[in-house]
Amino acid sequence: MALLAPRCIPILTLLLLLDLFAAAKAATVQHPRSKGCTVSHDWKGQTREFSFQSSGGMRSYRIHLPSSYAVNKALPLLVAYHGSGNNPAKFEVETRFSDEGINPHVITLYPAGGNWQGPTYAEPGVSDLVFTTDLVNRIKDNYCVDQSRVYATGHSNGAGFTGTLACSPEHARQFAAFAPVSGAFYTDVNGDQNCLPPRSPLPMFEAHGTADPIIPYAGGKGRGGPLPSIPDWLSRWARRNQCTTSSTKLLSNAVHDTEWKCAGVDGLLRHIKIDGHNHSWPGKNSEIDISPVVIGFLSQFHTPWTLVV
Ligand SMILES: *[C@@H]1O[C@H](CO)[C@@H](O)[C@H](O)[C@H]1NC(C)=O
Repeated sequence: MALLAPRCIPILTLLLLLDLFAAAKAATVQHPRSKGCTVSHDWKGQTREFSFQSSGGMRSYRIHLPSSYAVNKALPLLVAYHGSGNNPAKFEVETRFSDEGINPHVITLYPAGGNWQGPTYAEPGVSDLVFTTDLVNRIKDNYCVDQSRVYATGHSNGAGFTGTLACSPEHARQFAAFAPVSGAFYTDVNGDQNCLPPRSPLPMFEAHGTADPIIPYAGGKGRGGPLPSIPDWLSRWARRNQCTTSSTKLLSNAVHDTEWKCAGVDGLLRHIKIDGHNHSWPGKNSEIDISPVVIGFLSQFHTPWTLVV
């Protein structure tokens, strides 16, 4: 700066301002606030239960608001699908996604599903894809959500459903990234005929135990139909996501962490293989506490967003 003639300084200032303006503009385009950003809630830091009419009749969900929730402060949203036979209250305790030490800034939804669509044992005629879209829209209308940072996670049948969601050209659009755990991928067993993601790449994370007796790592016959092997399922996502290279590191003796570079982005596809782990949600007493890893993975991504005029 000292070498520049004084008359250059206003030009530099102007360029700097233009630059800041461009950055601010990009930020508003990429992180659109939802309609509910004007709504205040007096129960932040807590979880509440609500229900409404959607596919399958009266559907209920729990919602946790971080204590940092505020009017006009758009926060990310995570939809967490419990496994078959489980329920939102138990899943909230298991995952600890409402614990601010793990998840300080993401609004978390725990929808109730009984069995999520996909396996043969699911409720015929119920569309959980439609329920999900209705639910996410309802939350966006009533809470301040960063619409480019809506995520899905789940366990077992609920994890398989996040796969179904990611493969749906219509219903995956509003999600930025997916993180199934011990996934029962009944709707994505082979090929791409049931998987048409709305964009490529689509950030995807999966964690699975090699001693899972319910949804075997090697695939095969599940309670709800044929299941893919986890390596096959991952290789399909690696292809769909234009992944080129991968590397695996050991997080501990039993925990193998593989990250793929996809469409030039490091870690856009990630898999954690847990030697000897069963079908349970990997928690504090497991080989790895998976919940902070799920939050860390998802929080990196936001949907490329264009304003619809
Ligand atoms: C599954 O493994 C966890 C440890 O990760 C253990 O606490 C739990 O009891 C096991 N569950 C079954 C059904 O074996």
